[in-house]
Amino acid sequence: RARVVVLLSGTGSLCAALLAATDDPGYPATVVAVGSDRDAEGLEHARRRGIATFTCRLRDHADRTAWDAALAAAIAEHRPDLVVSAGFMKIVGSAVLARFGGRLVNTHPALLPAFPGAHAVRDALAAGVEVTGSTVHLVDAGIDTGPVLAQREVPVLPEDDEARLHERIKTVERKLLVDTVARLVTGHAGNDTEEPR
Ligand code: GAR
Repeated sequence: RARVVVLLSGTGSLCAALLAATDDPGYPATVVAVGSDRDAEGLEHARRRGIATFTCRLRDHADRTAWDAALAAAIAEHRPDLVVSAGFMKIVGSAVLARFGGRLVNTHPALLPAFPGAHAVRDALAAGVEVTGSTVHLVDAGIDTGPVLAQREVPVLPEDDEARLHERIKTVERKLLVDTVARLVTGHAGNDTEEPR
């Protein structure tokens, strides 16, 4: 099975969905390590499953370049075929991109290129859009700018606040991530986006 390293900063429900998928021996990937930039709740979940974890904090390094090099080395130790950023709230730098570019994917809670950045759900609500969604894309040097691999729409409901909308997006995101990782590691090219409305 393909080796996946997951990066996260938060609760890690997307990572948990991926871990649950790997319980099926027919799933083509396995999570070999979960890393974070902080003491994230998501690391606990991985530890309980006996999966290797690592933490690479920005404040433990002289600057961002040193942090990025350390992060690249920490990921590389686990020899991943694919690196998945699942709620990792830091922008990776050139060392990570040089080593893992093309096999580093991110999941984002909006229909990119709409609403990039750290507040995608809040920004979509503030803009008053009727439809937002979830995007899995390859990471490049920009902020949420890399090639889109898969997208799903999620309608915005009149009673939505940020938490409710984000939770509905995450429900869609979990499945999209699990399916897209399987598709990527089995080498099925192309993207999986819905037809534009
Ligand atoms: C997900 O919605 C993910 O797309 C988002 O953080 C959430 C993590 O949820 N990522 C970003 O906003 C990155 N800019 P989780 O901690 O429950 O897996």
